[in-house]
Amino acid sequence: MSNLKVDLKSSNVDMQNILEYKEQVKEIDTKLRTNSNDQSDFRGWIELPTNYDKEEFSRIKEAAKKIQSDSEVFVSIGIGGSYLGARAVIDSLTSTFYNYKKQSTPQMLYAGNNISPVYLNELIDLIGDRDFSINVISKSGTTTEPAIAFRVFREILENKYGVEEARKRIYVTTDKAKGALKQLSIEEGYETFVVPDNIGGRYSVLTAVGLLPIAVAGINIDALMQGAKEAQDKYQDSDLKYNECYQYAVARNILHKDQKDIEILVNYEPKLHYFTEWWKQLYGESEGKMGRGIFPAGVDFTTDLHSMGQYIQEGKRHLFETVINIEESASDILMKEEEDNLDGLNYLSGKTMDYVNKKAMEGTIEAHVKGRVPNIVINIDKLDEKTVGHLIYFFELACAVSGNILGVNPFNQPGVEEYKKNMFRLLEKPGY
Ligand code: PA5
Repeated sequence: MSNLKVDLKSSNVDMQNILEYKEQVKEIDTKLRTNSNDQSDFRGWIELPTNYDKEEFSRIKEAAKKIQSDSEVFVSIGIGGSYLGARAVIDSLTSTFYNYKKQSTPQMLYAGNNISPVYLNELIDLIGDRDFSINVISKSGTTTEPAIAFRVFREILENKYGVEEARKRIYVTTDKAKGALKQLSIEEGYETFVVPDNIGGRYSVLTAVGLLPIAVAGINIDALMQGAKEAQDKYQDSDLKYNECYQYAVARNILHKDQKDIEILVNYEPKLHYFTEWWKQLYGESEGKMGRGIFPAGVDFTTDLHSMGQYIQEGKRHLFETVINIEESASDILMKEEEDNLDGLNYLSGKTMDYVNKKAMEGTIEAHVKGRVPNIVINIDKLDEKTVGHLIYFFELACAVSGNILGVNPFNQPGVEEYKKNMFRLLEKPGY
């Protein structure tokens, strides 16, 4: 069983404030859940942990097994919602040094998330002569960054293995019917997986978009979905008083009304770095529109206490923090007594490193709250598949509710097109 508790005691927001939003949240809950499987909007993720394509789920597991057996390296090609979710889960649930270790599952590499030729050349160099497969992921099938990387990797695969064998090493995740990638997959006979119509990129990690790379890395995707299902069940209650997910959504809006324009997601576990990147996209793209939105930022503590700590403690008071606290560390180190105590650390002897990390967290929360930075704390038992599935669902649902409180549509991203139009015009793409 996964568990998650929201602690608002350092947030400066009390339950009475929160409950003033009771009726508004009830209305939003009804709006979100009514016909949530309607294909014409983007709420398919709400029912996803129970209502997913079981046949495709089995095919994902089969494909992952094949890739594990014939590839030393796996390259996931995608950007934004077609990249960050998989990386967030993989980094959270595998060794920090996964890619440096020899193991039974492939090395996980990522391409198509930038347009740097240096990055791509160095990646190709790193793969060297090793056997590899690729998964190109793009809902639209037309995004420039992954399209360029895919073109390059397709050629490398075809030169290395021949056209026929290359086809067996290319996995495509895209729209079920439209887009250039779908067309190409039909013509070439690539194995394809579907990004459901009613799920937008940043809400798609628990579809094939995230699940294939996650399964290739050896992560138990059944347990991941089960954690999300536990969250789906837990946050069914439309009554704000009993729904901690909705309380988080409301609390951040109350803080925002009090001039707190930036939310910093804080972790004390480096594995969560990419989880924060996923969260930043989720909230940034969902809420930042119509001149509104809380700017989502992230820090890895205690590392960033030595770089960003000064600003958070004493800079402009427009910040609040949301801290993810993992209660049970997956492993620990006991501090021993040393006879000469030259480093002066004997006061820690008999204590564990996780204990020190927790005290750093408690001390930091106390300091930041004193410096007028409210802190919301999200406590999770441990970092495992179920809890990560639960956290994903928690943040997705909270984001949808929060965006509605802000008065924006949390499922579109009209602003993302602006730079593309200019880039295409400058590149003299036909039609621009
Ligand atoms: O959340 C979103 O919709 C975006 O971030 C997309 O995921 C991103 O732009 C990539 O798009 P696509 O999957 O169509 O290549």
